[in-house]
Amino acid sequence: MIKNVELSADGRAVIIVDQGLLPNSVEYIELRTAEEVYDAIYHLKVRGAPAIGICAGYGIYCSARAIEAETFAEFYAKFREQKEYINSARPTAVNLSWALNRMDNVAAACADKPRGQLLAALERECRAIHQEDITMCEAISENGLTVIKDGDGILTHCNAGPLATSRYGTALGPLLLGHERGMKLKVFADETRPLLQGARLTAYELDSAGVDVTLICDNMASIVMKNGWVQACFVGCDRVAANGDTANKIGTSGVAILAKHYGIPFYVLGPSSTIDLECATGADIPIELREPSEIREKFYLRPMAPKGVKCYNPAFDVTDHSLISAIITERGVLRPPFAESLAR
Ligand code: MRU
Repeated sequence: MIKNVELSADGRAVIIVDQGLLPNSVEYIELRTAEEVYDAIYHLKVRGAPAIGICAGYGIYCSARAIEAETFAEFYAKFREQKEYINSARPTAVNLSWALNRMDNVAAACADKPRGQLLAALERECRAIHQEDITMCEAISENGLTVIKDGDGILTHCNAGPLATSRYGTALGPLLLGHERGMKLKVFADETRPLLQGARLTAYELDSAGVDVTLICDNMASIVMKNGWVQACFVGCDRVAANGDTANKIGTSGVAILAKHYGIPFYVLGPSSTIDLECATGADIPIELREPSEIREKFYLRPMAPKGVKCYNPAFDVTDHSLISAIITERGVLRPPFAESLAR
């Protein structure tokens, strides 16, 4: 099984599988510095909200080990600088700042401790962030299974599987777990333009596990729903606002609108680390804008648009809470009104 993010045996590097190269080659790279961690997150070598958080936790630990400082104040100033730098890699998934803030709180609490104890506390914290995600994904997978039945067709968008998290994943968790238990589910994976996480990663993960998966272009979601082949939509999330508005991969809100039209339940699955009660609504969620080259050129043998044509390339969109049937976390299946169920 591919290990997407882990700490090296000597604790000096984060080892990630380069998701940009999947499914054609499985290559692992080592990240030692804040610059390397930033680069890996920005270029989606590691991606998926929980995996970004896990990588950032390990990453700030590795870079903290290399900080040379005479005093805690000097150490902490450099630590904060690196933390803010890594945090600036991508704005939408709250798990990045969530994990870095956890690491920061641990560092701040060790002001009067010797360096060895400070580093040991940081190592415990980043390992805990990873371990907790494994536990949360298992619980999300179990909870997600309660809303589907054997034989169902499930449509998913982007990739919220083991590569994006740990173990089963979030949106793919119930599908992988259900398959292990003998359920016959039929999954439709949107290819997810422009970076093709659905084609390159979701189809790869499900196919490798033996799940019945059919890859479709994003603009084919409507026809498979109209054909009656989809009984539920399962998607992940990058940030859930206090009212239930949910940022996820660009195109997710379109899937939700289609699902509403066809009367298909639309489920968001994610760990509580993705819920941001500081954001009142989706309007408060920062949306990442990315390079036009991802639309014009990437993955094509030759450019497929006029050189220099204007492009609008938001990496995420917000699905209005009114379109979401339930938000499934490790705590259970949260139903509307989300302002109340999320607060609880
Ligand atoms: O740009 P990406 O590939 O990091 O976007 C990933 C998604 O939108 C996922 O659905 C989300 O992070 C949830 S992963 C469990």
